[in-house]
Amino acid sequence: LNEKIDIIKKHIKVYPDFPKRGVLFRDIFSVLLEPEIFQILKDVIVEIAKDIKRKNDYNCVVGLDARGFILGPLLALELNLPFVPIRKVGKLPGDTYQIKYQLEYGEAICEIQKDSIKPGSKVLIVDDLLATGGTLEAARQLVLLSGSSVVACFIIMELADLAGRNKVQAPVESILQF
Ligand code: PRP
Ligand code: HPA
Repeated sequence: LNEKIDIIKKHIKVYPDFPKRGVLFRDIFSVLLEPEIFQILKDVIVEIAKDIKRKNDYNCVVGLDARGFILGPLLALELNLPFVPIRKVGKLPGDTYQIKYQLEYGEAICEIQKDSIKPGSKVLIVDDLLATGGTLEAARQLVLLSGSSVVACFIIMELADLAGRNKVQAPVESILQF
């Protein structure tokens, strides 16, 4: 597993000063350019997700806009579970719950469809990256508004210096720490 994780790490392209000066942007899409490397990423996330499931059973996968939509559906299909999206405001049809949350600079709103998660579900939230933790904690609150609970969050890259996991009121598992 560690060898595979090293290969993934080598294939994450890093862009200085994107989207703003001073930000070192780690681009998960670069891993998808080569199918063999994408396959390794899939194998790793499936293995870890099954591990999490043994410790903390879940029956629904929630993915975050936009890069949580890469791995979330892969994982849901592999584990034969429903996949539910959380999106930035104004993108989802039908009745929604909304949560306002803090970004590094300013605020944003994200939404979930009211009829998407079966109430009482045990949810795994997935995304590509944890920075300040604002997005993941907002997502957790949307799951609560839907009448379900978050058993764990699973992300690929954690920016450990920002201590985002302290903001999230659920266990967080990450594959790579920077
Ligand atoms: C990035 C990333 C996470 C979030 C993490 O997405 O994919 O979802 O930021 O940041 P936080 O821990 O400080 O909340 P972004 O909001 O840039 O949206 P995008 O996926 O639409 O580009
Ligand atoms: N990559 C992707 N999303 C992000 C990053 C990053 O390095 N930093 C904050 N959001």
